[in-house]
Amino acid sequence: MAKLWAGRFSKDSNKLLDEFNASIMFDKELWKQDIQGSKAHAQMLCSCGILTESERDAIIKGLEEIAGEIERGEFVFRLSDEDIHMSIEGALTQKIGEAGKKLHTARSRNDQVALDFRLYTLKSNSQIRTLLLELIDTLLSLAKENTQTLLAGMTHLQHAQPINLGFHLVAWVMGLKRDYERMSESYKRNNFSPLGSGALAGVPYATDRNMTASSLGFFAPTLNAMDSVSERDFALDLLYEISMIMMHISRMAEELVLWSSYEFGYISFSDEYSTGSSIMPQKKNPDVAELLRGKSGRAYGNLIALLVVMKGLPLAYNKDTQEDKEGVFDSVKTAIISLEILNKALQTLTIHSERMEQMAKIGHLTATDLADFLVQKCNVPFREAHHITGQVVAYAESKGVDISELEESEIREIDTRIKEGVKSVLDLRASMNARDSYGGTSSKQTQSQINTLQAWLSEVRNG
Ligand code: ARG
Repeated sequence: MAKLWAGRFSKDSNKLLDEFNASIMFDKELWKQDIQGSKAHAQMLCSCGILTESERDAIIKGLEEIAGEIERGEFVFRLSDEDIHMSIEGALTQKIGEAGKKLHTARSRNDQVALDFRLYTLKSNSQIRTLLLELIDTLLSLAKENTQTLLAGMTHLQHAQPINLGFHLVAWVMGLKRDYERMSESYKRNNFSPLGSGALAGVPYATDRNMTASSLGFFAPTLNAMDSVSERDFALDLLYEISMIMMHISRMAEELVLWSSYEFGYISFSDEYSTGSSIMPQKKNPDVAELLRGKSGRAYGNLIALLVVMKGLPLAYNKDTQEDKEGVFDSVKTAIISLEILNKALQTLTIHSERMEQMAKIGHLTATDLADFLVQKCNVPFREAHHITGQVVAYAESKGVDISELEESEIREIDTRIKEGVKSVLDLRASMNARDSYGGTSSKQTQSQINTLQAWLSEVRNG
């Protein structure tokens, strides 16, 4: 079949070129947005007197039939149609005849693709934000149940100070909350309609871009036609946002992998979200968490790929931008399934709080508390307090116990300056609760962080 643009051509295009040039095999993903945009365009053309009502009705009916055929899997996507825009327009004209040929009045594929892709990215933005909130909700519930669960807080992956598990989970939530906010901001920034920009310079018809913008749910039309068909910032925003989400997920996933090992033994994944080994019958592997950790790679790759495609492109539309889609589709699918499965894995995992507490007794986590006690309560200069604490640690090590397990009397024998009450500051839970500064790990502060985040969550959900 002759190409829709083949008027000036006397020879058919080369098969290899068709294959190289076509985007239909991947941009068919945009069929819904393409039809949605065309319907809005036809309505507008009619209300501006460019199409008659019967032409408009035939176009809308034809587009709806095509949508049904695509939905039912009956529609044939042909390489020779090149892209989703020509595929649908061609099918429409076949179906309804002359009126179909008028649909492309006052529009170009350049603004059409910019519109379809923008609608897709905005829809994906909303979908991902909803999933972020669901994940945050799950984490906050887990946090709420674990504000008393002792955990060895780490720096350099070494035991550092006692915290509670809830506090650690709230730290995870903070990154996801920023991800959500980042996406809300970019949604607002990108919620403008490029439709009606034409090829690059606007159109010589008395069209109404405000009408299509508002009927498609945009805040307003874009301001400059040339920028509208050239820019892919909205897609890059999404790729960056997804990269940040996947980076956060990879850090959680890494901890989940560690925590589920024998060495830690902090958590077990449910069988439903674990996998086995083909050779080692005893194994239960955290593949879900490992894959989540690994998926950040492709998200970053997609971001860098599009940044490089866009680099140095002259205005206005260039075919290079056809390379914008596959990476975005891939990142969106990756983000959606990752958020969903992480949520499920968290909802179904078992937390071994006794094991966490037992492990918190390794590494003398309250040594800093002892030094502080010597300074504040025993009037010992910090340098000496540091030294005395070192002696207490050495004594505990010689006994093979943690300093929190020593008796008051044996501690006080180590140095006469150690006053009564020392035992209580070495207690892990007391130490955790002593960090009661705003934003600190005490159970009380953790609970108040959870309350703040839950209030935020219901506000964004209801507002
Ligand atoms: N398939 C093209 C793309 O994805 C659509 C726009 C083509 N426009 C053009 N003038 N060749 O970018």
